[in-house]
Amino acid sequence: MTDYHNPVMLQQCIEGLNIKPDGIYVDVTFGGGGHSREILKCLGPKGRLLAFDQDSDAQNNLPKDDRLTFIDQNFRYLKNNCRLQGAIPADGILADLGVSSHQFDQPERGFSIRFDADLDMRMDQGGLLTAKQVVNTYSEEQLHRIFGIYGEIKNAKTLAQTLVNQRLNKSIDTVEELKKAISKLIPKGKENKYLAQVFQALRIEVNQELEALKEFLEQSVDVLKTQGRLVVMSYHSLEDRLVKNFIAKGKFQGEVEKDFFGNQIKPLESITRKAIVASEEEIKLNNRARSAKLRIAEKN
Ligand SMILES: C[S@@+](CC[C@H](N)C(=O)[O-])C[C@H]1O[C@@H](n2cnc3c(N)ncnc32)[C@H](O)[C@@H]1O
Repeated sequence: MTDYHNPVMLQQCIEGLNIKPDGIYVDVTFGGGGHSREILKCLGPKGRLLAFDQDSDAQNNLPKDDRLTFIDQNFRYLKNNCRLQGAIPADGILADLGVSSHQFDQPERGFSIRFDADLDMRMDQGGLLTAKQVVNTYSEEQLHRIFGIYGEIKNAKTLAQTLVNQRLNKSIDTVEELKKAISKLIPKGKENKYLAQVFQALRIEVNQELEALKEFLEQSVDVLKTQGRLVVMSYHSLEDRLVKNFIAKGKFQGEVEKDFFGNQIKPLESITRKAIVASEEEIKLNNRARSAKLRIAEKN
């Protein structure tokens, strides 16, 4: 455990990867490095680990280890980077999606409703889109869609209209200004839940989280070797649905493809019947584990 991030379901993820000491592994969400350090413990001198993180702060957590290569990029570029590093085919890939505790806890990053800061919410500090731009430049229809789909907010249409009206007077630049602009719409007694949904929606849009996840999942199949493991942990239903469908069908919607003889053609096989969730004990120690869903698959 570190102040940066307390890794969730550490042992279950490591078991899911089924680590071979000489294998090649990829942790696409290095963060505080909790999962990566555990993978390194299981690897022998010839094993390799590639670790991705788009947040440059994560690099402060890198252990000195010749077996580890860090890639400061979005995991939507998984395949090209693995190819460049000679890491295809890989034995296992781990993704622990979403933001780290560090990102939430740094006031100036603008991810948290607890602090006042610029509306930023970029995981990649060099990224071009900020939450401020989304709130101030997106059309009412775009905002409605984002809040409805990514935030699952019931009054998404009114919320979008309110923001568009409020920003006519003055742009909405900070967390407090956003809270004030929408204060009349927040259900009494459910302030934190409602604001968390608004912030989740903006964060998903700013970081293009669902698009990146889809691209990553599709590429993971080309990176893994046969019987290689894909281990993905998600923290909200939109992500988990994509992961579940991709493992079950090799696609995000529609039915699984079949060959001429009616056999299913799908690149992955699920290892667990249902998503794995954290134990009560872990949830008591780490509240973040509460919403985690872990899915493990093997490449056919
Ligand atoms: C939940 S934390 C990972 C924590 C890590 N497993 C640990 O034990 O410390 C997620 C990390 O992945 C990074 N991340 C999220 N989406 C990413 C993406 N599309 N590409 C690269 N890094 C990403 C975030 O910047 C964050 O540091």
